Amino acid sequence: MPSIFDAIDVGEMKIKNRFVHSATCEQMATPDGFITEEILKRYGRLAEGGIGLIIPGHMYVHRSGQAQQRQIGIYGDELVAGLEKLAGAVHTHGGKIAFQLAHGGRQSPRAIIGQAPLAPTGRGLDPVSLNKPRPMDGAAIEETIHAFTAAARRAAAAGADAVQIHAAHGYLLNEFLSPFFNKRKDGYGASAEGRFRILKEIISNVREALPKSMPILVKLNANDFTPRTGITPDLAAVYAKWLAAMGVAAVEVSGGTYYGFQTIRGEIPGAEISRALPAWMRPFARIKMKFQIPANRFQDAFNLGAAETIRPALNGCALILVGGLRRLDQMNAVIARGAADMIALSRPLIREPSLVRKFIEGSSEESTCTSCNRCFAAMFNNMEVRCYQKGLP
Ligand SMILES: Cc1cc2nc3c(=O)[nH]c(=O)nc-3n(C[C@H](O)[C@H](O)[C@H](O)COP(=O)(O)O)c2cc1C
Ligand code: SF4
Repeated sequence: MPSIFDAIDVGEMKIKNRFVHSATCEQMATPDGFITEEILKRYGRLAEGGIGLIIPGHMYVHRSGQAQQRQIGIYGDELVAGLEKLAGAVHTHGGKIAFQLAHGGRQSPRAIIGQAPLAPTGRGLDPVSLNKPRPMDGAAIEETIHAFTAAARRAAAAGADAVQIHAAHGYLLNEFLSPFFNKRKDGYGASAEGRFRILKEIISNVREALPKSMPILVKLNANDFTPRTGITPDLAAVYAKWLAAMGVAAVEVSGGTYYGFQTIRGEIPGAEISRALPAWMRPFARIKMKFQIPANRFQDAFNLGAAETIRPALNGCALILVGGLRRLDQMNAVIARGAADMIALSRPLIREPSLVRKFIEGSSEESTCTSCNRCFAAMFNNMEVRCYQKGLP
């Protein structure tokens, strides 16, 4: 029976244990996306904490896809020197690092990108960007595929061990995959094959651009939780099968979009979802912020059910489970019964960067993160992402 402390190979990448730092935007880069000392310090600490695979916050591959003010960028060659230091900070401590390549799509605020956000379809007001998105024409799609490919080349040049394509949480590629966001009638919509096409073309191009030994990972929404027809676990299983057939080395199973913040809350399908100004904009004053996000109606391991639906379709491609995992015994049980190959953590590692070290040494059995979501609210308020809950251990 595998244990979470066992080493694992993801493609040709050898990882010392099955803990993953799930991509977590830091809000610590320069306004142009350059790596700062704060970022290097954070990832040095995380790697020192014994995590097998570290995925830093999503990196925008094109200026039109920036989603947060202080997000890391990977849109130009001038960023590679800083990214190389980031990879070095993790490698020094024997960790592996994957860069998450992302485009914010309709969730890129006009205030940041200076134009209406790009999306597969122009319908609806986006609750985060508060703009009506601009539907993408063939040239914009081609430019985006090229941007992901060039970004992957930069990741390799900077010494990353892998790339993860961000196709979750309502960002551009999730929007293309989702029947709720993608109402196109052309070859990039209209059917599951059509909606998958941009991701397929990106993966093929990225594969060509990367050294053979460098694995491609994908973060996939198994549930959009949008009103009506978003991605469901059954549809995600179809996409997962196609990803596995393309040689993707691991799929991280996640869920939710900014239509209700289920990405972090573990919302129940069918729950009421605000389509106008979202619930998180209601005042919820515990710390003084412009935007507030309600604390969780917290569910344990809230993507586990969806992961179990997807698992058989993956056919040997590794499954990384993320979302609401807090107890070591639960993580180990998931690994031991083969429901997932690796466990990814975000908020617990914001609160305790050395949590995995504590697990390894037996001094802790569970995270002290209360899932209050203040760190997430901080991200939307252009504040540094760290734990804002009192009583840090
Ligand atoms: C502050 C914050 C920033 C995040 N940034 C990203 C990101 O850049 N990319 C991503 O795929 N997910 C991001 N997430 C989502 C997490 O990776 C993870 O999927 C989610 O928080 C659920 O896991 P958890 O319960 O362990 O926190 C972020 C979450 C938080 C709280
Ligand atoms: S602010 Fe701290 S306790 Fe609250 S969710 Fe974030 S990491 Fe966890």
